[in-house]
Amino acid sequence: MTATIGTPVSRVDGPAKVTGRAPYAAEFAPPGLAYAAIVESAIPAGRITAIDTAAAERAPGVILVLTHYNAPTLPYQPAKERPAVEPVSGDQLRVLQDADVTFSGQPIGLVVAETQAQADDAASLVRVTYNRDPAPLTRFDPARSRPTSEAAASRGRGPETRQGDPDGALAAAAVRVEGTYVQPREHHNALEPHATVALWEGDHLTLWSKTQWVDNERDEIARVFGIPAEAVRVINPFVGGAFGSALRTWPHVTLAALGARRAGRPVRLELTRRQLYHSVGFRPHTEQRVALGADRDGRLTALIQEAVGQTSTYEEFVEATLDAPAVTYACPNRRTGYRLVKMNTNTPGPMRGPGHATGLIAQEIAMDELAAALGIDPVELRLRNSAERDPKKDLPWSSKALRACYRMAAERFDWRARTPEPRSMRAGRDLVGLGMATALNLAPRYPAQASATLFADGTAVVRSATSDMGPGTYTSMTQVAADALGLPLERVRFELGDTVLPQAQEHGGSTTMASVGSAVRDACRALRARLDDLARSQGGDAADAAGLLRRAGLNRLDADGSAEPGDEQKTHASYSFGAVFAEVRVDPDLGTVRVPRIIGAYDVGRVVNPTLARSQVIGGMVGGLGMALLEEAEWDPRFGRVMNANLAEYLVPVCADVVELDAIFVPGEDTISNPLGVKGVAELGLCGVAPALANAVRHATGKRVRELPITPDRLLMA
Ligand code: MOS
Repeated sequence: MTATIGTPVSRVDGPAKVTGRAPYAAEFAPPGLAYAAIVESAIPAGRITAIDTAAAERAPGVILVLTHYNAPTLPYQPAKERPAVEPVSGDQLRVLQDADVTFSGQPIGLVVAETQAQADDAASLVRVTYNRDPAPLTRFDPARSRPTSEAAASRGRGPETRQGDPDGALAAAAVRVEGTYVQPREHHNALEPHATVALWEGDHLTLWSKTQWVDNERDEIARVFGIPAEAVRVINPFVGGAFGSALRTWPHVTLAALGARRAGRPVRLELTRRQLYHSVGFRPHTEQRVALGADRDGRLTALIQEAVGQTSTYEEFVEATLDAPAVTYACPNRRTGYRLVKMNTNTPGPMRGPGHATGLIAQEIAMDELAAALGIDPVELRLRNSAERDPKKDLPWSSKALRACYRMAAERFDWRARTPEPRSMRAGRDLVGLGMATALNLAPRYPAQASATLFADGTAVVRSATSDMGPGTYTSMTQVAADALGLPLERVRFELGDTVLPQAQEHGGSTTMASVGSAVRDACRALRARLDDLARSQGGDAADAAGLLRRAGLNRLDADGSAEPGDEQKTHASYSFGAVFAEVRVDPDLGTVRVPRIIGAYDVGRVVNPTLARSQVIGGMVGGLGMALLEEAEWDPRFGRVMNANLAEYLVPVCADVVELDAIFVPGEDTISNPLGVKGVAELGLCGVAPALANAVRHATGKRVRELPITPDRLLMA
């Protein structure tokens, strides 16, 4: 048997996806399906004084209209332990439970009808009167910010971290740079809108629902309705992109279940594109102040990074913005501080590389400014400040090949051709800029379980309740299983996305292969051992699995497996690393920025599938291009709303925006972090891209834009 791990296997679910046979949440249609539409608050803050549903109830096809006046009181039992994807404190939005309005777009009613068009039409006929709060908190005002809470501190997101004497060291530094960096509210904009199909059979609830964590959705909905977790099944075999937006169980899932219960029929609730902008979290608008001090040789002596983010009035979401900056470089004196502005908005949430991507934007632009102030090459400056241990925890790295990343990416990019002086490189009329940045992302793992079954026809099914939001989990897990079982890839099928399967945690944080992959390997090795036992006891060849089972008179052979983090999490710091290099061409008159190429080199430990890994990181590059140049939710503080809540006006990169993307993976494996030797790939690909582009724009133009995205107007005015 040749190993499939490390080979560029094509997606096993590719044919199902391109032929439309892969079912997504909204496509499940149990008999008798009815359709739901949400009635939303038109004001950002206040109280509902009346809702007139008469016209809606009379509209054709309407089955029911639910508001807080007629909805049942739901128990909303608290979780014993707050799941990792929840905000650090506060209470989730309780739908249709009272008259309070805390953000524009908040669900305040639900219409269920025979067709979607009838539901939408009836929802538009609901008349709501409010007592408006005259002074809603709709402006992002850093002056009104407060330090994060005690609860946040207990979750590792405290108001401050400190080492040495950062302010004293900054004052005494030979060279100092200081700046404020702004990154706007950004939205996931996955292709597939969030949707839930809810079906009650007696007291048992089945949800076909877009999620990155079926087990959590089951537990969450069970608590909302006060029913046992066993009474809920969540199914979601395919996810059309999520990027963190489907980690939590958002209020629309409760609404779908509530509507189905009341209607006595299965109900489908699919969010509209516009609704996604206030329903499923977002990357919070964040302002960061960075101050760096260094000696004349470029060694960092002081590192201060402070962030002000936004959260809702009802929950405290604290992004991991300052986690990365504390460990990227060695520096004896460091301070980070986090403050929050509470606003009348829905709660932000994790979005692709949450925190690490944003913290690195400020840090890596500031490092570029420091390189310029010192007259040191940006790559050389980073090498001089290389952290040989985790500077925050003072632990050795589980593995780190960042130096090789800088070297290999710089070579492929031909960084040597860069002339350091801004505006010194041209291509025809265009200014050419070359920039770079460091990338890193935490590489933890979680406990996970899996099962493996061998059938008498020699095929195997391997299962775990994880998800595949696009990275290729079906494929990579099949590879891990096939290798551990010693079976050809075609004989193995991997199943996921169902709460009846062995438990797994969030398909997020780039943790799935390290966590679930290790459990899959364990289950398959256990099954393989049972097969070997059978071969020994019966005489026979373990490689002829079908023959062995047949002779033993068995239809199937089963084994369970699990894996959980061990001491390595206490003894080592585990991160994926990368170096990103980008070229821009800037029209000097129009301020338009084109991106001919981005090249990254990555240390992600062992690469299970080079094609999938490459897809992950070049996808991240495209996302990073969006962050740097295009993406911005335009917030209207008068109404507390996103104005460009659609894909025509919220710009994301399209094919024409990108030319050459290239990824290099530094060979190696992380023998400490997990049995597979992998580190997370996915979110690392987004990290470092936006600052590399911003630094390239500065090199091209001599202008430093500290507010993203770098739009033509911002660039021309800088
Ligand atoms: Mo991750 S925030 O689930 O892409």
